[in-house]
Amino acid sequence: MENIVFPQGFLWGAATAAFQVEGATEVDGRTDSIWDEFCRQPGKVVGGDCGEPAADHYRRFEQDVALMADLGLKAYRFSIAWPRVRPDGGKVNQAGLDFYSRLVDTLLENDILPWPTLYHWDLPQALEVEGGWANRDTAFRFAEYATSAVEALGDRVSSWTTLNEPWCSAFLGYASGVHAPGRQDPRAAVSAVHHLLLGHGLAADAIRAGVPGAQVGITLNMYPIIPVDPSNPADLDVARRLDGLQQRIFLDPLLRGEYPADIVADLEPFGFAGNVQDGDLDIISGPLDMLGVNYYSEHYVSSSANGSEPGPSPWVGVEQASFPRRDAPITDMGWEVRPDGLTATLLRLHHDYPRLPLYITENGAAFRDHVNGSGAIDDVDRTGFIASHLRAAHTAIEAGVDLRGYFCWSLLDNFEWAEGYAKRFGIVHVDYDTQVRTPKMSARWYSRVARDNALVS
Ligand code: NOJ
Repeated sequence: MENIVFPQGFLWGAATAAFQVEGATEVDGRTDSIWDEFCRQPGKVVGGDCGEPAADHYRRFEQDVALMADLGLKAYRFSIAWPRVRPDGGKVNQAGLDFYSRLVDTLLENDILPWPTLYHWDLPQALEVEGGWANRDTAFRFAEYATSAVEALGDRVSSWTTLNEPWCSAFLGYASGVHAPGRQDPRAAVSAVHHLLLGHGLAADAIRAGVPGAQVGITLNMYPIIPVDPSNPADLDVARRLDGLQQRIFLDPLLRGEYPADIVADLEPFGFAGNVQDGDLDIISGPLDMLGVNYYSEHYVSSSANGSEPGPSPWVGVEQASFPRRDAPITDMGWEVRPDGLTATLLRLHHDYPRLPLYITENGAAFRDHVNGSGAIDDVDRTGFIASHLRAAHTAIEAGVDLRGYFCWSLLDNFEWAEGYAKRFGIVHVDYDTQVRTPKMSARWYSRVARDNALVS
């Protein structure tokens, strides 16, 4: 008999992101984001999929909020689409803001805490034409957009997240090019890192100015980086570099007010330091009320070229890195199931960046779901995945980590970026032809956990 009880007030939620669920890409004044443009380019997204129809959440949000209420969820992490609020990065579009206002009202009527993220990868395409995140000006445009969102919603929303996974925006968007805007320019990628962080800092100030007492955070994707052979200096060095590029290049400026010296030196050939102007680090390291952690797996890394991935690497400046497989179950994304890495991640944050409230803002898994004869989806794998990660999170709490909530990724099956609709992360199944929602076994199980504030078996 297992009885794992979470701290009182622990926040149980589910997450989505605008481009992945909303659809309605040409409605109410929305204009193209970099993902609309990227999806049009042949070969970029599996199956030629795009932001339509997604889960048609723009039109069906009331039904989706009712579903969350039925499941007993306490919070909904969603993202606001910049190209709805300031189409083309320009003037404010009231119709776009009205959608989020209705969503927030509906959540509040159902006692669900709105937990918006301002940037989940849908940069207005018009700003990409001006250089995108490689252009310093984008950080200031982002703060203007944040101000508009805060003016419209700040009377009802107090928890705000600026960016989701800036590592992906910078390195997958501008170095490997597997995400929008699909550029393969390492200098642009490292500029994007700094400009995203500057945008975060400016937006955080805008949120605080508009919402007294706001809780402001940022969400990072965190992976323990494990060298294959810890007695091999080359493996250790590649692990150091990957950890620097994945974690410390974001955490140190945010929480210590400086970039990690070793990574600044590594990135010297790409002109990284030249992006940083006087006063930027003060803006970036303003007060942070919470850190969101997105956790999926670990990176097991070798300095050997054997098995290294084809094409341009997201790991700017790292000449050789490969990621051998260990013996572990894998998800439909090919990612190893490594719940212990979540405990390790939370403990590391607790030790290296103390006194910072943490939330798991994403955790979950894609698995191949089967709709059985009676229409049910018994997603035993996904249920087991979430359960094992909740146990791992609880282990960290018992060790003293200030973890305050958990959002599973995702509420709904949705558009999984370059992988299109074939990968399903939802605890609720979406039939893309009919848009019928069917809670999977994982949703029913998670609902019980949220209501009990405990894992009971
Ligand atoms: C992280 C991203 O924030 C989210 O958009 C994505 O769908 C999940 N990881 C799964 O890859």
